[in-house]
Amino acid sequence: MKILVLNGSPKKDLSDTMHITRAFLEGMKEAAPQEVRVIHTVDQHVEYCSGCFSCMRNGGVCIHDDDMRSILEEILSSDLLVLSFPLYCYGMPASLKAVMDRTLPLSRMTMRRAGDRYEHVGQADFSRLRYLMVCGCGFPNSRNNFEAAVLQFSLSFPQNRTILTVPESPMFNVKEAESVTVPKLEQIRRAGRQYAETGEVGEDLLKEIQSPMIPEEQYAAIVNGGV
Ligand SMILES: Cc1cc2nc3c(=O)[nH]c(=O)nc-3n(C[C@H](O)[C@H](O)[C@H](O)COP(=O)(O)O)c2cc1C
Repeated sequence: MKILVLNGSPKKDLSDTMHITRAFLEGMKEAAPQEVRVIHTVDQHVEYCSGCFSCMRNGGVCIHDDDMRSILEEILSSDLLVLSFPLYCYGMPASLKAVMDRTLPLSRMTMRRAGDRYEHVGQADFSRLRYLMVCGCGFPNSRNNFEAAVLQFSLSFPQNRTILTVPESPMFNVKEAESVTVPKLEQIRRAGRQYAETGEVGEDLLKEIQSPMIPEEQYAAIVNGGV
């Protein structure tokens, strides 16, 4: 399986969220061999989409000649596309959003009805691609926090998608927190194994993963310099 990770954290390999992503991929690897490529979006030269739509009319060729050309090729030759990012202002960081906007050449201008909404017709065949969102965040609450990012990902990738959200994720980079982060990463590894074996992660395991590692009030107190 060829896996492309688009890492939207400007902290690159030191990203809190990448701890979650690496654990999930390790779990997958226990079940099946894999080839992983990680692209740190903050390092890429990706111009903002100009909104001219010429790519959609023009056989998928963008007016910008930058790193997005090779990123699109990487996406199309992958089996699994992973968006790994910290929640920023209830969404994804700007460098990753810029990459997402620039995937427009993969679609045609033509739109078709899909259930209760419309979508563009693909300009390339990515029917075999599966999509995984891994998102960490700094608050202890998942409700009233992750919803916009989850909805955006779900609308962007209506099929073959899996979403992992983990609150309190700065703890993954704190040695003193290992008594709770190590078991959480083990749960996530288990989820990766399950995903590689069955193509999905069970609802119960997803719920366990989404739950805070320590009680919300305790986490807030630690962040605030108390306890
Ligand atoms: C610009 C900015 C915006 C943020 N917005 C949110 C947010 O909306 N909700 C939240 O819970 N945490 C927010 N955070 C905290 C990060 O999601 C958190 O620190 C995360 O663990 C960073 O992950 P990373 O190390 O993978 O980059 C924000 C952080 C920054 C720098």
